[in-house]
Amino acid sequence: MEDLVEEVVAIAGRDLTLLRPRDAEALLDDEAFEHEEFLPYWAELWPSALALARAIGTRALHGARTLELGCGLGLPSLAAAAAGGRVLATDWAPDAVAMTARNAERNGLVLDTLACSWTEPEALIERGPWELVLASDVLYEARNGEALLPLLPRLLAPRGEVWLADPGRPAAEGFFARAAGAGLDVVRRPAAELPRGAVYRIRSPA
Ligand SMILES: C[S@@+](CC[C@H](N)C(=O)[O-])C[C@H]1O[C@@H](n2cnc3c(N)ncnc32)[C@H](O)[C@@H]1O
Repeated sequence: MEDLVEEVVAIAGRDLTLLRPRDAEALLDDEAFEHEEFLPYWAELWPSALALARAIGTRALHGARTLELGCGLGLPSLAAAAAGGRVLATDWAPDAVAMTARNAERNGLVLDTLACSWTEPEALIERGPWELVLASDVLYEARNGEALLPLLPRLLAPRGEVWLADPGRPAAEGFFARAAGAGLDVVRRPAAELPRGAVYRIRSPA
């Protein structure tokens, strides 16, 4: 995959360069879609990734064990690594984690990557628990929230936090209502990049 373009994104006073495929739709694969309705959403830089990277990039992470779910091109993972986190960037698309690894190297940042689905998350749990879990624009289908809601408490360390950016996807509303109903503490922080959405901080009850 060499038809790539480079974007430069300012995060916490630092320019990060990000490679992405020039044309995400050109990556559509009929066979993969029929198998698991797989669409190459990883190949675009979504506003939620910008909002989450900016929210996380201003924090001092002091080596916090950090997991990104559905990393796509990996911008929040890059921001977390730049802020001092020890980061594992994951996505079910092997091309996404390969591009994230390439983007990290391009910016002189160190992180690990792993191809792994939320529907078979054992490797994510085994490598935990995580002090910080990041995810941007992952609630675009109800089935995603159904997989993620029971998974998040299994990933988190005591006092760990999930930071999840969402642009206001219809399926996200039910997710946040169920999260609150399950006793999770959900705090909404407005973000300039997400006029109809926000960055949410989710914690298990103390
Ligand atoms: C809308 S894209 C967002 C990508 C990136 N986080 C961003 O905001 O730019 C959703 C991401 O979730 C990933 N994804 C979808 N279903 C997944 C699953 N079951 N397990 C792991 N990753 C998944 C996709 O491959 C894609 O990278």
